[in-house]
Amino acid sequence: MLDMDFVRGMFPAFSEPSLEGQAFFENAGGSYTCAPVIDRLTRYYKERKVQPYAPYAASQLAGAEMDEARARLAALMGVAPQDVSFGPSTTQNTYVLAQAFRQWMDPGDAIIVTNQDHEANSGPWRRLAEDGIEVREWQIDPETGHLDVEALNTLLDDRVRLVCFPHCSNVVGEINPVAKITAAAHAAGAFVCVDGVSYAPHGLPDLGALGADIYLFSAYKTYGPHQGIMVMRRNLAELLPNQGHYFNAGTPFKRFTPAGPDHAQVAACAGMADYIEDLARHHGLASNDPVGMGTAVHDLMRAHETELLQPVLDFARTRNSVRLLGPSDASERAPTVALATNVPGAALAEKLASHGIMAGGGDFYAIRALKGMNVDPDKGVLRLSFVHYTTQDEIDKLLTALDAVL
Ligand SMILES: Cc1ncc(COP(=O)(O)O)c(C=O)c1O
Repeated sequence: MLDMDFVRGMFPAFSEPSLEGQAFFENAGGSYTCAPVIDRLTRYYKERKVQPYAPYAASQLAGAEMDEARARLAALMGVAPQDVSFGPSTTQNTYVLAQAFRQWMDPGDAIIVTNQDHEANSGPWRRLAEDGIEVREWQIDPETGHLDVEALNTLLDDRVRLVCFPHCSNVVGEINPVAKITAAAHAAGAFVCVDGVSYAPHGLPDLGALGADIYLFSAYKTYGPHQGIMVMRRNLAELLPNQGHYFNAGTPFKRFTPAGPDHAQVAACAGMADYIEDLARHHGLASNDPVGMGTAVHDLMRAHETELLQPVLDFARTRNSVRLLGPSDASERAPTVALATNVPGAALAEKLASHGIMAGGGDFYAIRALKGMNVDPDKGVLRLSFVHYTTQDEIDKLLTALDAVL
């Protein structure tokens, strides 16, 4: 069981006077940042804010810390350090990737996108239609928001080069079977690009087990700084045309991040690994096997979240005025809960704010998913999203507040 005092002690936000008395339920928009990340970022700016990888000491430390971030996060996810790259955001990473696929694919080739995704893993790919690429849409069930793998199989054929889908949608919340979808795509000769932004904050995935060719997530929603993290398998990285400077083509983690990296933030990402390893040590889960340790921490977070989530889902399900998007069984989903009502989501969020609940309302850039479930995107949804550092007391406070405003 998670030691909540230990967990919350790792986040300065929980001892910040200006945030006291406010329960945070917009974590899917961006999580609080853990202390090791803040400490590393501060240290970098104070002690190492020089051009990295030069021969003087401060520069060596700067470069080494950037390498450390890549290597340790890679180890926790079961991939090679060279497969991990940092970009300004997930949206920017998919734009660059789409450009690479645009050059690599031929007119008449096809890609599959979903209408469950956040726009970041949808729009950039759909624009390939301008270059003669056929774009096929894998559609959600209008009632449940569910993506059916059988339906994907009917869209796959030997013209499909890439299947883009979310590990978990930021409004439906259902956890998609990545390994199964990836196996189906691979069997048809296609690669997959998985948006893990809404999943990774609930425990870093074992990417070796999932087998995805591209896996994307955002560090700023995963207790880290404002960076997009992209994992791409070497075979694909070598196949796609380089998008970076020509002389960097031989460095896999520079091929798809053309911007100069934000050195301090990349280095501070090592603090995300510190946090996961601190959690493991504190809970008796430390081991020499980083993937095993990452998985153990993932399972610990997930067990806590699932227990807290079920009563929220039960509450939503029993309210006639509320439509709960996605599964009502906590074991099938992330604690990212979108509720559609007759009232605009943003108006409900405003009411909740006066009850000490920090939540958001709107379309969350998942306009296609809302439309796919016949939810008016202009009205949007109220979204309540939490993570492992959320307490039972905060859930109780949320339910009392919801009772008052719904
Ligand atoms: C599921 C999902 N994918 C992608 C993104 C975009 O991430 P970024 O802000 O890093 O571009 C978001 C951001 O809200 C998201 O929720």
